Amino acid sequence: MADESPADGPRGERSTVEPPKSFVDRANVTAASAAAFDDWPACWERAAAMVDWTEPYDAVFDGDRSGGRWFPGGRLNASANCVDTHLAERKTQAAIKWIGKRGERRTYTYLDLYHEVNEFAAGLRSLGIEEGDVVTLYMPSIPELPVAMLACARIGAPHNVVFAGFSAAALAERMERSESEYLVTCDGYYRRGNAIYQKNKADNARISVDHEVTDIVVERLDDESIKLGDATAYDDLLSDHRGEEVEPVSRRANDPLFLIYTSGTTGEPTEVRHTTGGYLAHAAWTSHAVLDLKPEDTYWCSADIGWITGHTYLVYGPLSLGTTTLLYEGAPDHPEKDRVWELIERNAVDVFYTAPTAIRAFMKWGTEHPDSHDLSSLRLLGSVGEPLNPSAWWWYHDHVGDRECPIVDTWWQTETGSILLSTLPGVDAMKPGSAGPALPGIDVTVVGPTGEPTGAAEGGRLTVETPWPGMPLDLDADAADDGWQYVTEDVARIDDDGYVTVLGRLDDTVTIAGHRLGTMELESAIAGVEGVAEAAIVDVRSGGPVDSVYAFVSTDERHEDEARLRRWIADRVESTIGEFAVPERVVFTPELPKTRSGKLLRRLLKDIANDGELGDTSALRNPEIVGEIESALSDRE
Ligand code: WT7
Repeated sequence: MADESPADGPRGERSTVEPPKSFVDRANVTAASAAAFDDWPACWERAAAMVDWTEPYDAVFDGDRSGGRWFPGGRLNASANCVDTHLAERKTQAAIKWIGKRGERRTYTYLDLYHEVNEFAAGLRSLGIEEGDVVTLYMPSIPELPVAMLACARIGAPHNVVFAGFSAAALAERMERSESEYLVTCDGYYRRGNAIYQKNKADNARISVDHEVTDIVVERLDDESIKLGDATAYDDLLSDHRGEEVEPVSRRANDPLFLIYTSGTTGEPTEVRHTTGGYLAHAAWTSHAVLDLKPEDTYWCSADIGWITGHTYLVYGPLSLGTTTLLYEGAPDHPEKDRVWELIERNAVDVFYTAPTAIRAFMKWGTEHPDSHDLSSLRLLGSVGEPLNPSAWWWYHDHVGDRECPIVDTWWQTETGSILLSTLPGVDAMKPGSAGPALPGIDVTVVGPTGEPTGAAEGGRLTVETPWPGMPLDLDADAADDGWQYVTEDVARIDDDGYVTVLGRLDDTVTIAGHRLGTMELESAIAGVEGVAEAAIVDVRSGGPVDSVYAFVSTDERHEDEARLRRWIADRVESTIGEFAVPERVVFTPELPKTRSGKLLRRLLKDIANDGELGDTSALRNPEIVGEIESALSDRE
């Protein structure tokens, strides 16, 4: 990607930036404490010490570098760790500060959270939910969502949060796969002033799920016409259990805390199950060491709770440390493009964690927006989700951090549960464009196509070589000659100093609204539309608030009414996946670019869509198609 920063000068990609002394002096992790963290797996005892255990574990790790289980024998409860633990010292401190879509504000102190989590947990039990039952949560960013997560954790019922923007069909599929018989949803919510009827989607999902589903509905819309039917109202359930307390269930370290679905190359959602002990320890430790959270901080992670970032760094990490976590339901540019900076100023946010796509949108909207606010409360900035390109890095550093805040570019995945690569903000120099070294206690390398080691600087598939506490149950790892490997789909380069630069993903996935989706999922939805022969999805850097995708579609009959087809495609994507995944543009082409062996050349489409250099097209069976696609694309500019 083209970048305006000079390649070599003081602000170039290869330059390093030292963390400011003012930060270093107060950092949670210092050079001395980091240095003591090198004896694997014993070093992870330090992470486990951040968590309260009801039964001590027998060993930090049972196994060897070739795999095993973390903290066997240990017992704990994640809800007790996020709530009860803090009652002694910060009953009246805010745990969650919520700002709703319509500017509503609600603050839950740790004591408020304690009561609501207990009452809701008692309510869940009264509906017959027992330890081990999977409870699906299908809500936008409203406080009832973290309350429900913590209530599930309290009774040992793994939660299965499904992003609120997913369609009924996507929800039903996730409930079927997880055999989940319980659903907590809401009647609806507002988007840019319009009501979205979430309960309609939930009802449609219920119809297509084979088993019985019991549901609870948060009433958010204030709309008398919405009938709850046989569902229980969230507020009624709370008042029926007013003042009740539920003893947190003592869970084994390797009992699942939650499940979450992600996308891979296959067209099917992949289930990832995270543990209670290792996950929570890793989440708490990285929140402390990388995000540098302190209990007195107000911290804002802009991710949606429906994805792993929200689980780990909006709910479990910050709450286990006793921090105040900000939950913002609205859009970053509504009512004005300075909304994010206004909220940081008004809430005196100390640490802000967001995604590169958001940072690039902020850049596009202009420096006048951050410049018109007092952002001096900020101490640290974070990024996750994609490579943070150097020009966006510098913009974030200069205009948001006022050159005073270190930036942590954190690399991790749904599968890793917590951060694996990042600088430690009070210890390591930063290199714009590079995520940084593996955290203490983590080993990574790069491998060639068949798993063999390659020259680190040449690049290869990023591979984790030793187990880490936040790893999920049933991780898809491989046995290697000298141990164990978790080979990711990311291509990366490792410099001599161990800094890792992530270059991109190998598999056919795209990022939409900051989330990973398989191209297959989208392409097969579109190919299901009558008149469509084939579809290819690529992502584009549009510079909007979220990156989006284009669909290149070849049709059965050239004469099909394109406007109608476009509408059908949008409808189909909305109903099978969700409105958020509807491609920004549909470009019709007589054929897709293919190699002689019939393989789709997605890279070429990506270059065309992003106005990039086309590179070598000699492998194409149908080179003439390139011109046709380019003109189809510019037709509608
Ligand atoms: C993929 C994981 C984990 C949080 C959000 C996404 C990409 C993530 C970085 C980073 C470069 C990054 C990788 C990774 N990614 N963080 N700092 N630099 N790439 O979770 O949907 O599981 O996606 O996001 O490609 O594999 P996810």
